[in-house]
Amino acid sequence: MKNPVRVAVTGAAGQISYSLLFRIASGDMLGKDQPVILQLLEITPAMDALRGVVMELEDCAFPLLAGTVISDKPEEAFADADYALLVGARPRGPGMERKDLLEANAAIFSVQGKALNAVASRQVKVLVVGNPANTNALIAQRNAPDLDPRNFTAMTRLDHNRALAQLAGKTGAATTDIRQMIIWGNHSATQYPDISQASVKGDAAAGLVPREWYETDFIPTVQQRGAAIIKARGASSAASAASSAIDHIRDWALGTPDGDWVSMAVPSDGSYGIEEGLIYSFPVTCKNGDYSIVQGLEIDAFSRQRMTVTEQELREERDGVAHLLP
Ligand code: NAD
Ligand code: LMR
Repeated sequence: MKNPVRVAVTGAAGQISYSLLFRIASGDMLGKDQPVILQLLEITPAMDALRGVVMELEDCAFPLLAGTVISDKPEEAFADADYALLVGARPRGPGMERKDLLEANAAIFSVQGKALNAVASRQVKVLVVGNPANTNALIAQRNAPDLDPRNFTAMTRLDHNRALAQLAGKTGAATTDIRQMIIWGNHSATQYPDISQASVKGDAAAGLVPREWYETDFIPTVQQRGAAIIKARGASSAASAASSAIDHIRDWALGTPDGDWVSMAVPSDGSYGIEEGLIYSFPVTCKNGDYSIVQGLEIDAFSRQRMTVTEQELREERDGVAHLLP
């Protein structure tokens, strides 16, 4: 058996965590041979609820759960953390855009970036789930100057998985038949779900579906899926968000399958002309615990226009939180 790794999760008594923690403890995220110590952060009024979640974790008798720490202090929850899943933040309600949460949530990520900087493992891998996820990841990263800036990422894997499901439904294929889907940009309504590189059972996806369906149905459905779930459920996606967070960290830590890639929002290095430093979703491959942005893809005028719109939105979000970016 390997030595345990420390996984910090914030918002640990919330909806997403109620799925997420049990999947991490069962080995779905880091493998069935990797024990984990869960380090759970909540705000003070939610500590009783968190104690109840921990009782349930104990009652599962997970063989891989090597310990549990709970705290309302980021410096305790992040101590020596190898992974940090920053979920704790307010969710949006009906009629809101995710960026409407910036004011309520941004300060959380400035405090938590500083705490990670002070006490986490120097190799900590950070996934921001709390919305608006890309800009919150930027805030955390910029408040953690001693950590590797590349290790601050945000979640667009849920959008990626939604895009796989929509294309699979339209073509009658399984999601596992699809390769090389891409989500570009922000986890917001401006994101660009791109099938121009994708294949279904080896055939180019763009040749299998009507262009009109792609532009007027597929793209808006993926862009608006979060809002559709809020409308139907009365609460934002939770189990699917948790599942995508598991997928994101698993592939980052353990590698992407040969011949395929995934979408992760990572600090732009200028690839595809996207402004350096923005936390922008790209196609990436992962190996040996590191990710690389897929290079050399042809970008047509349709794609470029959409990639620029979502880049512009990220610039505006960044400029709106300039006071939190040291
Ligand atoms: P929730 O309200 O059920 O849970 C959030 C939890 O965070 C609460 O228990 C709250 O007490 C806690 N919290 C608040 N401030 C905190 C802080 N400073 N430190 C620690 N914990 C804190 O919400 P949820 O449904 O679990 O969603 C959480 C976030 O994830 C929301 O912002 C939501 O919009 C976002 N989300 C993102 C994606 C994505 O794809 N990126 C998908 C779904 C939801
Ligand atoms: C989602 O995409 O489901 C989440 O970001 C929640 C939301 O506000 O849409």
